Amino acid sequence: MPMVSLRQLCDHAAENNYGLAAFNVNNMEQIQAIMEAAKETDSPVIIQASRGARKYTNDRFLYHLMQAAVELYPKIPICLHQDHGNSPETCMSAIEQGFTSVMMDGSLKEDGKSHADFAYNVAVTKKVCQMAHAKGVSVEGELGCLGNLETGMGDKEDGHGAEGKLTREQLLTNPDEAADFVKQTGVDALAVAIGTSHGAYKFTRKPDGAILAMDRIIEIHKKLPNTHLVMHGSSSVPQALQDIINKYGGKLKQTWGVPVEEIQLGIKNGVRKINVDTDLRLAITGAIRKVFAETPEKFDPREYLAPARTAMQAVCKERMIQFGQAGQAGKIKVKPLSEIAKLYN
Ligand code: 13P
Repeated sequence: MPMVSLRQLCDHAAENNYGLAAFNVNNMEQIQAIMEAAKETDSPVIIQASRGARKYTNDRFLYHLMQAAVELYPKIPICLHQDHGNSPETCMSAIEQGFTSVMMDGSLKEDGKSHADFAYNVAVTKKVCQMAHAKGVSVEGELGCLGNLETGMGDKEDGHGAEGKLTREQLLTNPDEAADFVKQTGVDALAVAIGTSHGAYKFTRKPDGAILAMDRIIEIHKKLPNTHLVMHGSSSVPQALQDIINKYGGKLKQTWGVPVEEIQLGIKNGVRKINVDTDLRLAITGAIRKVFAETPEKFDPREYLAPARTAMQAVCKERMIQFGQAGQAGKIKVKPLSEIAKLYN
């Protein structure tokens, strides 16, 4: 089947009350792990690539790896999404590379660092919606700035993220603005800032409402019951994965991620896309460290990349079941992008 738009997957998820993990990828083993987990659980898939990932894979490798996934898993609907596009040009180049969904992150200016105002965000996001929707490609926007409510510091991923200290109000998505933003731009999905950040170091303790503002999601969903919400920075950073890394020579400081039960609360309140990158990075690193530590004589990359792939697959499978997307792939009636494009007119 052809690759599908994010909108189609999120609409199905909303109709059937589940969420979809959006896994970041940079290489073949990550794509294989996600696809095998999807096959095992009959799950629709969102695979996403940041600008850094597109540079790392040189776009064309990513393109052909995704074609292989489409060919080898014909029963799994797959959406390929640009994570954190910094400009309409970045989003357009992703569409030219076959992405079926793009994020225009206009919460920051094109430099990917400076806080952008509401008018700028609306203007660039609206422009991307017009270009993308004409091709049936979906658009995710972002309002509010990802960052840590404990420190007030903005968040950075692959060099993309707000710099310096921000106020609580700058860090959190304002529900009234969110309603206005969706109305003015026509986005298919909205990333909301609720105190999560990318990477392993999200929280210095198990998060409660003071540092993980799930109540914002509930408020935003009340104002925008038909908009698909997106949670960024939503790896759970499982203790077991931290322990494996540290047992085999790693030096991670104790940290906490987003508990799965909080994500499940989000899913009950309009969250349809949940971004997960760090948990796969932790899984791959732990598995490789274990092989290196226990059998230092090994040097065939397959001997450490295969267990790394298995470890990532286990994480993907667990999230697919926890978010409720397991068992849904076969139920989605996939429409080509050309037909989806007509729905926007
Ligand atoms: P994590 O670092 O929590 O996995 O978040 C990834 C993400 O939000 C990508 O946009």
